[in-house]
Order: sequence, then C-alpha cells, then structure tokens
Amino acid sequence: MRVVVSESGTAAAQVVADLVERFVASAPRPALGLATGKTMEAVFAELVRRHSEQGLSFARVQAYLLDEYLDLDHDDQSAYRNVVHRLLGGRVDMGPGAIHGPNPQALDVTAECARYERQVREASIGLQLLGIGANGHIAFNEPGSPLDSATRVVELSEQTRADNARFFPAGRSVPSRAITQGISTIGAAARLVLVACGEHKARAVARALEGPVTAEIPASALQRHPRVAVVLDRWASSGLARSAS
Ligand code: F6R
Repeated sequence: MRVVVSESGTAAAQVVADLVERFVASAPRPALGLATGKTMEAVFAELVRRHSEQGLSFARVQAYLLDEYLDLDHDDQSAYRNVVHRLLGGRVDMGPGAIHGPNPQALDVTAECARYERQVREASIGLQLLGIGANGHIAFNEPGSPLDSATRVVELSEQTRADNARFFPAGRSVPSRAITQGISTIGAAARLVLVACGEHKARAVARALEGPVTAEIPASALQRHPRVAVVLDRWASSGLARSAS
C-alpha cells in the first residue's frame, strides 16, 4: 500500500487526477470505477479542467458507479448517476451510455444487483476510485458488511444519512436504502485509489490502514489488496502512527 500525504485537498485531487490521467491515457479500453461525494467533487473538477485546458480525453472510458440510492426518481438531481453526469460525464467527451450503474428503478432489485455484479466483474475495473466514510465505509458498505460481500441492497446508517444530507435540498430526507457494490466486488478491481480529506476522516483512515482487517471497518479490507494507493490531505493523515511519503 502506498500512502501519499498532500498539503491540501486541492493538492490531493491533483495527485488522484494524475493517477486517473495516466490510467486513461495508457489503458486500451479504460474501465474506470467512480465514487461520489464531496471528496470526489474536487477530483472531478480537476479532471474536467484537464479535459478543457489540456485535452485529456475520456472518449474511450467506460465508467462504473460504486453505488446508487434506492427510492429516488430517475431524474432526481441527487441520484449518483445524475451527479456524476453533471460533474464529470456531461462536461468531458465521454460517449453516450458510458456511465454505468445499478438501476434503482428495476422492478426486481435483487436481480438488478446480480446483473450489476456481473457487469462490473466482466468490465474488469482497471482503476477504482474510493472515498471513505467517517465510520470507515467504502461505497455503501457500512460497518458490519461482510468482507466477501457482493452487490446488494443495504440499509444506510444514521451517520451516513446525516453526513449525506448536505447533498440533498433542505428539508428532503436522505433515502435509507441503496444498492452498493460489495467489498469483494470492489476488491476485484486491478488497482484501488482511496482518497480522504479533512480531520473528520482521520480516525477512520487510521483504523482502515493501521488497525486489524475487520468488517467493522470496511475500508480495512484494502490492506489485503495488492495494489492500493491512499491519497490524503495532511488532516486526514493526522491519526496515522506510521509516516507516509
Ligand atoms: C459514494 C461512496 C461513499 C463516499 C464516502 C465519502 O459513492 O462511495 O463511500 O466515498 O461516503 O464521502 P465524502 O467524500 O462526501 O466524504
């Protein structure tokens, strides 16, 4: 596991964008795994800047979402597919239909989870971006999620719903259910890049990187993956005992 500590969130986003840029430029058919959330917003903004100012092309990229809320309308602006289209896909040269995700409108959500699991496995994700929740979640794998879990319907924790309320208009409640790739699904990607910024992530980062591998901290599963880069700002790194590069 390589840990990079940047001076600021902006600098961390540049480090992550460098990794994405190299991957997108070198893979013949780049299958890119995308997370959503505040941390990713800075990464997406930097990728959009590189597209418009430096010609970074996403034309060959197929993107795969980690997760999606259930119980939102198809055109809800808080649905992750729409967020990723608004912040990234629609602002670069990704082809139509290049953003894939679980379909929360499916009549049979269990079958939809199995379909998306197959699709992600067949795509062979080359680079998977990950954020981390303050409770140690990755994607929507909340504490207690089995380390060998696959794509499935999950209940969101109260902490995650409270943390994500800022992405919804005032007065709207955050859905309580989502479809998420499982920890095992995520682990099948060739390379993982975990990004965390801010002091509120420091404890989860320290437990994920330096604590035991446990379902109680889903991100600790990354310790078992052969190719992981962790990109932090200095606040998110402040709970680590070991020094990083
Ligand atoms: C959402 C996802 C989540 C977020 C995590 C951090 O697709 O994968 O695991 O990455 O909740 O979110 P922020 O960056 O908003 O703190």
